[in-house]
Amino acid sequence: MYRGASLYLESGSKSKTSEETNRFVYILCAVVCVLIPLSLRTVLPNEAELEIDVKSWVTSEDSHSLTSRHTLTGSQFNQSYNGFQYKCQPSICSRQENVVFIKTHKTGGTTVQSIMYRYGYIRDLSFVIRRTNEKNGHFRHMELTKDSPKKMFLPLLDTGTCSFRGYNMSAIHVVHNWEIFESFMNPGTKYITILRDPVFQLRSAFVFFSLYKGVRGITIENKLLNYMRGNSWKWQVYGKNSQSKDLGLKTEYFEDEAKIKLFINQLDIELDLVLIHEYFDESVVLLARELCWNLEDVVFTIENNRSNHKPNLDSELLDSIRKFNHADVLLYDHFNQTFWKRIEQQGPMFWRDLEEFRKLQNKTMYKCFNSSTIPEDYVSGHNISDYCDRYTGGLYLFKNVYKRQHKTC
Ligand SMILES: *[C@@H]1O[C@H](CO)[C@@H](O)[C@H](O)[C@H]1NC(C)=O
Ligand SMILES: *[C@@H]1O[C@H](CO)[C@@H](O)[C@H](O)[C@H]1NC(C)=O
Ligand SMILES: *[C@@H]1O[C@H](CO)[C@@H](O)[C@H](O)[C@H]1NC(C)=O
Ligand SMILES: *[C@@H]1O[C@H](CO)[C@@H](O)[C@H](O)[C@H]1NC(C)=O
Ligand SMILES: *[C@@H]1O[C@H](CO)[C@@H](O)[C@H](O)[C@H]1NC(C)=O
Ligand SMILES: *[C@@H]1O[C@H](CO)[C@@H](O)[C@H](O)[C@H]1NC(C)=O
Ligand SMILES: *[C@@H]1O[C@H](CO)[C@@H](O)[C@H](O)[C@H]1NC(C)=O
Repeated sequence: MYRGASLYLESGSKSKTSEETNRFVYILCAVVCVLIPLSLRTVLPNEAELEIDVKSWVTSEDSHSLTSRHTLTGSQFNQSYNGFQYKCQPSICSRQENVVFIKTHKTGGTTVQSIMYRYGYIRDLSFVIRRTNEKNGHFRHMELTKDSPKKMFLPLLDTGTCSFRGYNMSAIHVVHNWEIFESFMNPGTKYITILRDPVFQLRSAFVFFSLYKGVRGITIENKLLNYMRGNSWKWQVYGKNSQSKDLGLKTEYFEDEAKIKLFINQLDIELDLVLIHEYFDESVVLLARELCWNLEDVVFTIENNRSNHKPNLDSELLDSIRKFNHADVLLYDHFNQTFWKRIEQQGPMFWRDLEEFRKLQNKTMYKCFNSSTIPEDYVSGHNISDYCDRYTGGLYLFKNVYKRQHKTC
C-alpha cells in the first residue's frame, strides 16, 4: 500500500481500542503489584531467594549443555527456565510471542534483534527471513508486497507442508509496512522499533557506510558538512533521514512538514512500542513489560559498538545535521516524548524492575564471560555453554534459526 501519504491515513485500520484494554491491565497490574506487595511484603521473594533462582536456572542449563550442544528443545528449556515469576506481568497478562521488530540502521537494532532471535529460537517460533540471504536474512530497502512471502521468505517452521502465512516474528532490516506485514503475520502481532538521536545516528552511518567517499574535504568533519550541502544522499539509501526511511517515509516527502506529521501520527497508531537507543536499559524493561516477557528474556549483549574514527561534532555541525535530518528529528522527538510518558504510566514497579534487570544483566555477563561485556576473543560455539552462546550475538543465533527453518519448497 503506502504509495503516497494521502493513502497513508486510510491504509491503516488499526485501532486504539486495544490500548484501552491495556490501560485496564496496567491499572490492575498497579493494584496487584503496588498495593498487595505493600501489605504482604514478605510474600515476594527477597534478594537471597532471587540469587538461588538465578543459580539453579543457569546451572541446570549449563550441565545439560555439556551433553548436547545446540540441540536444546523447548521442554528441556522449560525445565531450566523458571526464575523471576515474581514480576506482575506473567500472572496478569499473557506472553506476546508474535512480534515484528523493525530493525532501523545504526541505532543499536542488532542488540534488540539478538533478544528476538534468542527468544524465538528457544521457543521454536517462525521468523520472517529472506530465503536467499543466508548471511542475515535482510530485505533492507527492497519493497515487500503481499506476494513476497511465497517468492522470497523461508517457509514456516515444521508445518509438514510449505506454508508462508502465520509467521511469529520478524527482526530483519526491512521497510515498515503495517498492511503488508498484517497479511502474513499471525493475528495480534505487536510492532516495535528503535530510534536513536538523529545526530549520532547520522554520524555513525557516515563512517560505517563510507558515505564520505568522493566527498570534498580534508578532515572528516569537513566532509560531513560538504556531504550535507551536496546531493549525493539522493542516490544513497543510508544517508538522510534514514530512520524515517526505514519506517516507510518516501524520500519525496523529506521536506514536507505536513506529510511528515501525518507519517508520525500513523506510526503512533501502528507501532505498539518505540524503544530509544539512548535509554537502552529502560527500553528493554519496557519491552519486557509490553510483551509480558520475563526480565531474563531481555538480557542483552551490546553488539557493534565500534570505536572507529567518527567526526567530532561542534555546534555548527550539530545544527547542520539537525536541519539535514529534519524528518528524523521530528520523529525522534515525538517518540522520545511518548517513551517517557509510557514509563510514567508504568508506575513505581517499573523502577524496581529496572534495578532488578541491571543486576541480572551484570550477573549474566559475569556468569558467562567473567566481565560485564563479551571478551573480543570469544568464539560462538566454542566457549562455555549453549546458555552463554545465546548471548554472543545476532548472527550466530541467526545462523541457527536459518538452518532450522530452511526447507526446499
Ligand atoms: C513449557 O511449559 C508450559 C507450562 O508448563 C507448557 O504449557 C508449554 O507447552 C511448555 N513448552 C514446551 C515447549 O514444552
Ligand atoms: C506461531 O505461529 C504458528 C503458525 O502460525 C502458530 O500456530 C503458533 O500459535 C504461533 N505461536 C505463538 C506463540 O503464537
Ligand atoms: C562503546 O565503546 C566506547 C569505547 O569504545 C565506550 O566508551 C562506551 O561506553 C561503549 N558504549 C556502550 C553502550 O557500551
Ligand atoms: C528525551 O526526552 C526526555 C524527557 O522529555 C528529555 O529529558 C531528554 O533530553 C530527551 N532526550 C533526547 C536525547 O533528546
Ligand atoms: C557485577 O557483577 C560482578 C561480579 O559478580 C560484581 O563484582 C560487580 O560489582 C557487579 N557490578 C554491578 C554494577 O553490579
Ligand atoms: C576472571 O577474571 C579475573 C580478573 O580479570 C581473573 O583473575 C580470573 O582468573 C577470571 N576467572 C576465570 C574463571 O576465568
Ligand atoms: C574462546 O574459545 C576460543 C577458541 O577455542 C579461544 O581461542 C578463546 O581464548 C576463548 N575465549 C574465552 C574468553 O574463553
